[in-house]
Amino acid sequence: MHLKMRDLAIKFSWIFIILLIMLVSESQSVSATRKISKYQKPRKQFVLYYHDNLLLDPDDVANSTSAKVTSGTKLGNYEFGMVVVFNDPVTKDQSFQSPEAATAQGFYFYNMKNDYSAWFAYTLVFNSSEYKGTLNIMGADLMPEKTRDLSVVGGTGDFFMARGIATFTTDAVEGIKYFRLKMDIKLYECY
Ligand SMILES: *[C@@H]1O[C@H](CO)[C@@H](O)[C@H](O)[C@H]1NC(C)=O
Ligand SMILES: *[C@@H]1O[C@H](CO)[C@@H](O)[C@H](O)[C@H]1NC(C)=O
Repeated sequence: MHLKMRDLAIKFSWIFIILLIMLVSESQSVSATRKISKYQKPRKQFVLYYHDNLLLDPDDVANSTSAKVTSGTKLGNYEFGMVVVFNDPVTKDQSFQSPEAATAQGFYFYNMKNDYSAWFAYTLVFNSSEYKGTLNIMGADLMPEKTRDLSVVGGTGDFFMARGIATFTTDAVEGIKYFRLKMDIKLYECY
């Protein structure tokens, strides 16, 4: 009788352990899929075009929206160290004469010895009927790459506490006077 009880107890403890393992692995797989499904699809996504119109000729003030504040150094032939401050128009389509969807306010500098490559930090300032607020974007613009991901590190107003990725593609280049970036903005966190 006693032996039987012990056998039974052992059997039950095995069943209990197996159930526990199943429960734990189940809850782990649930949290893993939750994490993936939460992040695989952006909660908000839109494309904007950034137009950088560099002041080259001092008389071209009317049509320029950015200016270099330092010259490049002698480290390589790719303007290493040149800092450009900008207040650039951002539009929904490729024409820089289209109505502004936002302005991009910030700076970039060239920082590669062997090729053109830049580092950006700027705020997209929205003041339209569609959006009011800001998105703050920063990161390396590794220009030799076809697409580059920069971080959306925060936001205010309609973009309160936003976080995500801004994917850059070079859309047009006209010498050193003008370039256009396509920004595919994907917000994984927004409210
Ligand atoms: C500004 O750019 C536009 C388009 O390229 C051109 O038509 C216009 O003449 C320019 N204005 C000035 C003042 O340079
Ligand atoms: C935002 O837009 C409103 C309405 O057009 C204007 O009155 C206001 O000055 C703008 N604010 C900024 C910071 O540009």
